[in-house]
Amino acid sequence: MMKKQIALVKGDGIGPEVVNEGIKVLKTIEKYTDYSFEFKDAPMGGEVWKNCGESLPQTSLNIMAQSDTILFGAVGLPDIPQGVAEKAILKVRQDLDLYVNLRPVKLYPSLHDMCPLKPEIVENGIDIAVFRENTESVYAQIGGIVNQETAVNSMVYTRKGVSRIIEYAFEYVSRNKFDELISVDKANVLTVSQFWRQIYQSIGKKYPSIKQTSYYVDAFCQWLIRAPSSIHTVVTENMFGDIVSDEAAYLVGSLGMGASGNINPNGVSMYEPIHGSAPDIAGQGIANPIGTILSVKMMFEESFQDAYLGEMIDKSVEIALEKIRTIDIYSKYAQNNSQINRVNCTEMGDAVCIQIKSVLKK
Ligand code: NAI
Ligand code: MG
Repeated sequence: MMKKQIALVKGDGIGPEVVNEGIKVLKTIEKYTDYSFEFKDAPMGGEVWKNCGESLPQTSLNIMAQSDTILFGAVGLPDIPQGVAEKAILKVRQDLDLYVNLRPVKLYPSLHDMCPLKPEIVENGIDIAVFRENTESVYAQIGGIVNQETAVNSMVYTRKGVSRIIEYAFEYVSRNKFDELISVDKANVLTVSQFWRQIYQSIGKKYPSIKQTSYYVDAFCQWLIRAPSSIHTVVTENMFGDIVSDEAAYLVGSLGMGASGNINPNGVSMYEPIHGSAPDIAGQGIANPIGTILSVKMMFEESFQDAYLGEMIDKSVEIALEKIRTIDIYSKYAQNNSQINRVNCTEMGDAVCIQIKSVLKK
């Protein structure tokens, strides 16, 4: 029996709706395998702030720190002060030292019509993993405003911080048998980037069979829309990673599809869809749960070291998407195709679980 305690941060808006579908997937797997899951709620976000005056209660942080892994929905409400909920996420990342932000982006064969690029550009598909440094750079919050006239944020890199994300990315590339690791920096201008590039090249010497290419971030952003099929694994610093991974995520057509892991390879990691609390559709039950379900896939791969079940969840999503779509991916093409039906959040979760069940029951 593989017992795992999973902390649940359902959060605000569509957060609880999509997390419930992630739980459904976990419970389906539990039923047909040796896994046994214990779920513990760790409330955090805007609703919590309204009720008790803080967006991240210490009791919730303790539950997260003591669990094997964390499934996170989204936090943020339109009617609370800006930054209140976001600060809670930054605190979890810092406190649990979640230094790898892994954001995979994949265009499923049945969703090619959702891609905003010309068909000939993406005929070989899109399958990209961005490894974003998650604790340093300008997000370290070192700076301030002087005399209301000058504002400063320092771009802080440490040897430890840069080395560990680059090492993690190289190990991942090597383990999963990819043949290249692209590094994105701005070494033509920034000293911190020259420091980054030196460390990338020096760690790269340990991986002579992996092709190593450095791009400047501005040029890389155009390569991402010019030749996305040729890009597979990318390592970069915090702010560049934030921007580049959002750009990549939109290539598959919807924020609702994107999954991510905030990973501490030696501790507790947190998995979350990349979208926010979507107040415009909250409470209607129509959100796309795939980003959350694919975050559960990542939980199996990264936290439980179970590539088989990760792959199985991915395949189940792929099969479900051949016949059904949620509102955000219900394109003109889908509307005109009688083989594709529009479904709500729970129906999408159910369809993925039916696929999972059909594989595991055997
Ligand atoms: P958002 O991602 O919540 O929504 C952007 C647009 O995408 C909306 O039209 C929404 O309906 C749609 N959308 C997002 N996820 C969807 C899904 N699963 N299915 C169908 N449609 C979906 O971003 P927005 O509007 O900028 O932020 C709303 C709130 O969420 C803010 O308070 C923001 O701070 C917070 N936020 C929280 C994040 C987190 O918890 N990690 C990340 C991003 C934003
Ligand atoms: Mg972002």
